[in-house]
Amino acid sequence: MEKEYPGYLRHVKNAFEAGQIHIFRWWNEITASEKKNLLDQVSTIDFGLIKKVFNDAVLKPARTSRDNLTPPPIITFPKKDAEKEMAHKAKLTGEISLQKGEIAILTVAGGDGTRLGINGPKGTFLITPITRKSIFQLHAEKIVAAQKRYNTRIPWYIMTSKSNDSATQNFFKVHNFFGLNSHQVCFFTQDMVPVVDLQGNVMMDSKSNIIMSPNGHGGALMALKEKNVLNDMKRRGIKNIFYHQVDNILVKIADPVFIGHHMRNSSEVSLKIVKKCDPEEKVGIVVYIDGNLHMIEYSELSRKDMYEKNENGTLKYHAGNIAVHMINIDFLEKVYQSGESLPYHAAIKKVPYLDEDGNVIDPKQNNAIKFESFIFDILKYVKKSVIMEVLREDEFSPIKNMEGENSPETSRQDMVNQFGRWLRNIGVSIPVDVRGNVIGLIEISPCFAMDEEELKNKVDKQLQFNGKLLL
Ligand code: UTP
Repeated sequence: MEKEYPGYLRHVKNAFEAGQIHIFRWWNEITASEKKNLLDQVSTIDFGLIKKVFNDAVLKPARTSRDNLTPPPIITFPKKDAEKEMAHKAKLTGEISLQKGEIAILTVAGGDGTRLGINGPKGTFLITPITRKSIFQLHAEKIVAAQKRYNTRIPWYIMTSKSNDSATQNFFKVHNFFGLNSHQVCFFTQDMVPVVDLQGNVMMDSKSNIIMSPNGHGGALMALKEKNVLNDMKRRGIKNIFYHQVDNILVKIADPVFIGHHMRNSSEVSLKIVKKCDPEEKVGIVVYIDGNLHMIEYSELSRKDMYEKNENGTLKYHAGNIAVHMINIDFLEKVYQSGESLPYHAAIKKVPYLDEDGNVIDPKQNNAIKFESFIFDILKYVKKSVIMEVLREDEFSPIKNMEGENSPETSRQDMVNQFGRWLRNIGVSIPVDVRGNVIGLIEISPCFAMDEEELKNKVDKQLQFNGKLLL
């Protein structure tokens, strides 16, 4: 190896020193190109870091002190006149910033989508209730509509991973970027990290391949810098980023009210939240710990805090994070200058692997640890933020599973129900069942109407709904 591959020796030594030399167990059996593949992989891995992360995340799980937990201040859904006035002003500010071309969209779409289990990137899943547009098309049309409304161009940055990048880019090419200009859609990949077994040993799925997985949506933070994306944004005059996850099909892309609140408060990172629907709902909650903003994962929240109530009987810690953020570019620069990075969290999963005898094993139980960084860990660097409450039924319906909760079926129903509400508020009669679900199918393209206000000007309230409506 020394003579044949001198450039890789430093990396091999790192693997050796971190106790991972077993990855070369089959060195004498594999071909020259397989050797090269393995060494290339090895050269991308910081084995020392993996060891440290394993020790930190698994052997000594970090515990957040809960002594000084308090609910954070929230801009609630506007009901009173003063609140409506504040939202109106925010909207104007947001609209001006959009018109000036200062806002970019960042969609994180690098996840493996294991729970959904489709063949291909999650964004390619065909979701709309009648025409079966893909999730990517739905987001793209929201951007097209916003561009038209604000007479602007909105750059769209999509984070992919090594495993789904080419499939994602091809999907956009085949569909002519869904009406967007190809120069405004920019793809960049996040880093991958090795998967380890429960003892911290790097796992392999063939004699020459280390199992790697994307490094979490927090990987966006480093990728924005390392892949030169932030510079590209600055070159285009972007001041703030609208961040969302690919699988929330109700996301209000480039919501001017949210942008405006963020800007008017000189916020560094802003968050949209919804009220948790029950104490055990699996969403992270936004809280103050010792006066600093934090997101606590549902799995890391104690039962006492989970069920704690206010005097009026409502949940004390109700601010469910829906992973829709505004991020200020200057703030990002400051984080980079400080040299800080996001920590890794460990997720225990079931991952097929090659055992030491070279047999492929499909485990029955969880056997592996994937390391992921989370974008919301950036909150610990944030001094100024805005937390804005929105209505779940209007803005949050993620697709996680193929069946049951948070599945394509529930998301389609959520879309139909939203369109049904818009139409009912205009005066159109729309039947619902006992659970409040619209009976029938409705699909409204964002290019026809982005919201209820726009729909009002385009639809006659005499419209007769006969069970299926496509606009
Ligand atoms: P999830 O954590 O729900 O993961 O990601 P997932 O990949 O969609 O699905 P599972 O857990 O494998 O079933 C939430 C959002 O963060 C993105 C996903 O693409 C999704 O938009 N994400 C997640 C990344 O961009 N990179 C990652 O490494 C992980």
